[in-house]
Amino acid sequence: MLAALRMAGDCGVSGEVMALELGISRVAVAQHIAALRSEGYVIQAQHGRGYRLVFSPDLPLPYEVRPLLKGSFTHLRGGGETGSTNDDAKLQGREGAPEGTVVLASRQTVGHARLGRAWKSPEGGLYLTVLLRPEAAPHQTVALGLLTGLSVIRALEGLGVIPLVLKWPNDIFVLPHAIFPGGKLVGVLSEMATQVQLVDFIVVGVGINVNRSDRGEESSLEDGGKYEAAYLSDVFGEATPRLAAVAATVIDNFETLYRQWVAADYSFVGFRDEYERRLGIMGDQVCVSSSNGRVIAEGEVMGIDEVGCLLVRAADGSVSHVPSGDVTLRR
Ligand code: BTN
Repeated sequence: MLAALRMAGDCGVSGEVMALELGISRVAVAQHIAALRSEGYVIQAQHGRGYRLVFSPDLPLPYEVRPLLKGSFTHLRGGGETGSTNDDAKLQGREGAPEGTVVLASRQTVGHARLGRAWKSPEGGLYLTVLLRPEAAPHQTVALGLLTGLSVIRALEGLGVIPLVLKWPNDIFVLPHAIFPGGKLVGVLSEMATQVQLVDFIVVGVGINVNRSDRGEESSLEDGGKYEAAYLSDVFGEATPRLAAVAATVIDNFETLYRQWVAADYSFVGFRDEYERRLGIMGDQVCVSSSNGRVIAEGEVMGIDEVGCLLVRAADGSVSHVPSGDVTLRR
């Protein structure tokens, strides 16, 4: 119906024509129009000219995102406000939803971040979670979060956002530039449900700062105040892509990388070079700590090992393979 309204443009299209084209009754047309209006679409009904679409809200609604997708992760849910897309996707996972189900939102009220932190998720951001069912053992999936970061970088670069860097394991930062200060743009949180020795499902959640909130609400990309949040709208201004377009390219790029990783039998080796090239903390002196603040490793970042652990060389020359943790730069 949206496609028909968009095609008709300012001329408008009658309920009768849409009913014929879509093979539904005129009552069903009226019901769809009412549903669209309740989502925020402004549709004028003019006597003799039919319906005219005047305004479309910037929301990642399934019927906005689906037509833009090139891949097969088209089982989409949500699109407006929710508690947490990760929580919703876990529910879908327990209810047997298929691999590739994606839960979308433009605002979260109880978003989750890594290491048990909260993720403030004001209106205007893009929050999405993909449900996956890899036939793998849990230890084989360590690198999935890293691959997600890589796929989101590819998607955003495809939209023209540069220069971007990864901060292990999967944060994405936009580097300072002449006209914007830079900061954290994307965070990724993957969570797993297991059954005996195998993965039952994994949910991979991605939060992207797209627009600054009209209501002045902070995004939570600051990780407890350590970083400034950066927004796509800082880079694009008026030309900021719509949430549906950002969602579609993120989902497609993620699906491509995910399928390559499954085909490679869950090996990270083929992706390691690209990941290291984009790793913004390569060669830096860092401190890696656990969620309770315990220091796991300190020293120079040497790269990533074949399963996705961070390689940190201490002052005594010993190299730690760190599987998870929070990285801070040592000054
Ligand atoms: C982090 O940087 O600590 C990761 C943040 C991940 C936030 C995303 S937003 C979509 C999905 N739903 C959630 O509740 N969290 C993730």
